[in-house]
Amino acid sequence: MTQRPTDLELVEMARQARERAYAPYSGFPVGAALLGRSGRVYLGCNVENAAYPLCTCAERTAVIKAVSEGEREFEAIAVVTATGAAPCGACRQILREFDGPQGNLRVIVADTTGHLRPFTLGQLLPEGFTSEQLG
Ligand code: THU
Repeated sequence: MTQRPTDLELVEMARQARERAYAPYSGFPVGAALLGRSGRVYLGCNVENAAYPLCTCAERTAVIKAVSEGEREFEAIAVVTATGAAPCGACRQILREFDGPQGNLRVIVADTTGHLRPFTLGQLLPEGFTSEQLG
């Protein structure tokens, strides 16, 4: 059985991922650490572009890395910003795609002082759009 990182360890990984953010336009670096059911952790940071709409959020970077490595089920994601901001609406929807029917993914929102706010994805995105709605 793979040893799971604690929430604090996951936040620390997200904090380190944030140091690799490429955010010269917003000056708002974001780090994410996504824990897969396998126990593997996928790190993400925001990657901005001079063509602003092409900026990629940290959470999305982590999801794309994980899914492209073959992992599709997740237990938790930690997100670290200077202000302790929760994931944007688009990232909540991206995460929803790979969450179970109950929206149980744990989303640990943290700031750089170590203040944590734990949520479930269902709390952050009630009535999110899922494949069930496609009929
Ligand atoms: N950003 C994220 O990485 N995740 C979010 O959930 C919200 C916003 C990034 C996008 C952009 O690079 C910067 O933060 C400012 O919006």
